[in-house]
Amino acid sequence: MDITRTSAWRMLLQHRDGMATCHLRDCFADDPMRFSHLSFEVGGMLVDFSRQRLKQQTLKLLLGLAQAADVPGWRDRMFAGERINFSENRAVLHPALRYSEKGTFPALDQRVLSEIYAVRAKMRSFSDCVRSGSWRGFSGDAIRDVVNIGIGGSDLGPKLAVHALSAWQHPGLNFHFISNLDSANLAPLLDKLDPRTTLFVVASKSFTTQETLINAHTARDWLCAKAGGQSEEVMARHFVAVTAVPELARNFGLPEPNIFRIWDWVGGRYSLWSAVGVSIALAVGMDNFEALLKGAEAMDRHFQEAPLGENLPVLMALVGIWNSNFLGAETNAVLPYNESLRYLPAFLQQLEMESNGKTVGRDGQPLECKANPVVWGAIGSNGQHAFFQLLHQGGWLVPCDFIAAVESNFPLPGHQAPLLANCFAQAAALAFGKTEAEARSELEAAGLSGEQLTALLPHKVFTGNQPSTLLLLPKLDARYLGLLLALYEHKTFVQGVIWGVNSFDQWGVEIGKQLAGRLLPALRGEGDVAGLDESTAALIKWCRAHKAL
Ligand code: F6P
Repeated sequence: MDITRTSAWRMLLQHRDGMATCHLRDCFADDPMRFSHLSFEVGGMLVDFSRQRLKQQTLKLLLGLAQAADVPGWRDRMFAGERINFSENRAVLHPALRYSEKGTFPALDQRVLSEIYAVRAKMRSFSDCVRSGSWRGFSGDAIRDVVNIGIGGSDLGPKLAVHALSAWQHPGLNFHFISNLDSANLAPLLDKLDPRTTLFVVASKSFTTQETLINAHTARDWLCAKAGGQSEEVMARHFVAVTAVPELARNFGLPEPNIFRIWDWVGGRYSLWSAVGVSIALAVGMDNFEALLKGAEAMDRHFQEAPLGENLPVLMALVGIWNSNFLGAETNAVLPYNESLRYLPAFLQQLEMESNGKTVGRDGQPLECKANPVVWGAIGSNGQHAFFQLLHQGGWLVPCDFIAAVESNFPLPGHQAPLLANCFAQAAALAFGKTEAEARSELEAAGLSGEQLTALLPHKVFTGNQPSTLLLLPKLDARYLGLLLALYEHKTFVQGVIWGVNSFDQWGVEIGKQLAGRLLPALRGEGDVAGLDESTAALIKWCRAHKAL
């Protein structure tokens, strides 16, 4: 279905035109209860949409769009285990991984449910063993360093969660995340690791991803050379794998007990809830990992049960669509005012852009509207001293998600209140700006007048009207992290439904992989450049003239 042909879409266009000149200052002036009308609390998390450029009527019309796209129907199809990822013929059941009522997830039979619980139990006993020091390396020493080798969803989710929850991290364990093919990622780490006390977690759903396999082979060669040769025992003490294709992990040299299973209905970017999260369990313990699942489960239930008008993932999705498709925003900034969430922008980039970065609908037809803005961002307040200038005066419409926790996980006197003050101040300044009159009186108060004032005045004006959502957590613990991430997951799903795309495949990443495979022999000097485009052929020749690869 082409959503742009629905009457809901047309009504939104009209509504948009009718409020073209509306400034957020006017919105607040018109509705003194705007915050209470446009903020929502779910599971203890507050989400404030009051600084979005919309009115209550806008939300009503947007809800009509969700109905027109049959969001409730698609949501129910997902939870019922229908193969909604039709281009890969797969169900989408990552919520089953966080379902706590044993034996009752409707879409899965008892056998699969038992497998899920068995993997979770295996994660618990393995992580308990490593954390207690009873898991020993080849020399009999306990593990001190854990290296997660994976990329995309097999890296970003665990990396985000381990850092987000670092206040709960085991004090005797260090965590490292290796994803890049560039040996500058792995080599310096190997230089400082002690092979006797290092454990590698190779996370790859497919166990065919080039980056992960090259890094895993290098790590295996390094370890076995230090341990006096490769043996099953050395591998069993220093490597585990997480994959949907256990035979490939066995071929890599791992015994069955060291392999954690995942399933084809867990998409890579939705996999941190599965055994891909084993690094999280190693870092913060299985109880915390299960609290993470519980937080996500609470959001699953809310998503399934709350009426659309109070349903946070639905509202967040609609606000994003309003900004992109009706107001014309091409990007969305993710701005966590929390050092521990520094990997959230990268995680959301994959979640949203790999899911919905598409121009072809489920029906194979080109979309009539753009899907998914470019997601980017960085932690605050650092961003304020870098790119916020453009947000304030650059003239681009950049909707922002501000994310903060009231309580710090690493409290120091005098830090948290200024951090939050900056967060709230930026959201307010972006929304309301500074009028010429306000700027003028400030300059006058500072003693300026005449030509000097006139020259400076235009530089001191801030248009404002930059929309933002503020997500506020009481604290950043495992449960709240789960709640937050599942909110973004379901938001992404709802947007995909409305745009009419399959949010669970990612064919776009294949073209580069195939081409890289074709270029490799030429770069290594084992093949020629015939048949390559002129530019690529010239680049390869240039590299080879400089260094044999
Ligand atoms: O190439 C993209 C991708 O398939 C992502 O979707 C996925 O998260 C990542 O690569 C890693 O895949 P795997 O876990 O199979 O190594």
